[in-house]
Amino acid sequence: MILVTGASGNVGRNIVDELLAAGERVRAIARDPQKCNLPGEVEVVAADLSRPETLQRALRGVERLYLWPAFGELQGAVDAAVRAGVQHVVLLSSEAVTYAAGEPHIACEKAVAESGMSWTFLRPSAFMSNDLLWIPQIAKDGVVHGVYGSASMIPIHERDIAAVAVKSLLSVTSGAIHSITGPQSLSQAERVRMLGEALGIETRFEEVPRERVRAQMLLYLSESVADQVLAVRASMRGVVGEALPTVEIVTGRPPYTYAEWIAHHEAEFRPVLQL
Ligand SMILES: NC(=O)c1ccc[n+]([C@@H]2O[C@H](COP(=O)([O-])OP(=O)(O)OC[C@H]3O[C@@H](n4cnc5c(N)ncnc54)[C@H](OP(=O)(O)O)[C@@H]3O)[C@@H](O)[C@H]2O)c1
Repeated sequence: MILVTGASGNVGRNIVDELLAAGERVRAIARDPQKCNLPGEVEVVAADLSRPETLQRALRGVERLYLWPAFGELQGAVDAAVRAGVQHVVLLSSEAVTYAAGEPHIACEKAVAESGMSWTFLRPSAFMSNDLLWIPQIAKDGVVHGVYGSASMIPIHERDIAAVAVKSLLSVTSGAIHSITGPQSLSQAERVRMLGEALGIETRFEEVPRERVRAQMLLYLSESVADQVLAVRASMRGVVGEALPTVEIVTGRPPYTYAEWIAHHEAEFRPVLQL
């Protein structure tokens, strides 16, 4: 039995679909099973990673676990998995572990690494799905506001992270660390332009003062993390990063491009097209 946490999320939802397609028995947890909208073949158990006592039923008979990184709250879930006899954990981590701002992810990796279970860490770059947050701005007037528009990253399609996760669940290699990127280095401004071209509308990226963006970030990040994230982004201005071959090596197919990601998310962008 494989247990998928974060199953309604960008990555977890794709893991569920791939595991079902491979004929695996899948159990998932959701804090509210009524809302998670998973396929009928999935056994959904109400549980919360931050409340380990709720995990007992979900973990019964589970051999392999895809673990969503509940920041600051994962130790209890890891301990519960050990008690339940889970053998292998595939942890969603982040490339941010190489920056100081990645501290919450480093703590998640540490909890899993010290658990005694065998593990695989997934360290993806920025998710392409982050750009879904631009939809309201694109729908309004096609102008996406932000800071450091020329900052490049090599964003990754959530399906590719899921594909690497599924390979790691089905063919266990203990201690593997998969750093995962998409196929091309793209700045924010380039991605906004590509979205406009694909949607057939005028779009552009517009710089706003760093302090304005920082103030918004402080609504959900600490000062030190916000400053580190902004510093990393600033350091990526005009930098062309190197795409990693991980997705192709692990899955046997190349990672999806940003243009393919846009096409896969047409339904979410449809309200923009109707304007
Ligand atoms: N965005 C990026 O660029 C990026 C890059 C590298 C790594 N990451 C990592 O990826 C994570 C996001 O993954 P994602 O996009 O696949 O997820 P997501 O779309 O943000 O969805 C969150 C998922 O986590 C579940 N969840 C949240 N809190 C939970 C809790 N206390 N107990 C049980 N389940 C809980 C939710 O389940 P229910 O609501 O159904 O319970 C939902 O399925 C980030 O948190 C970050 O750590 C992100």
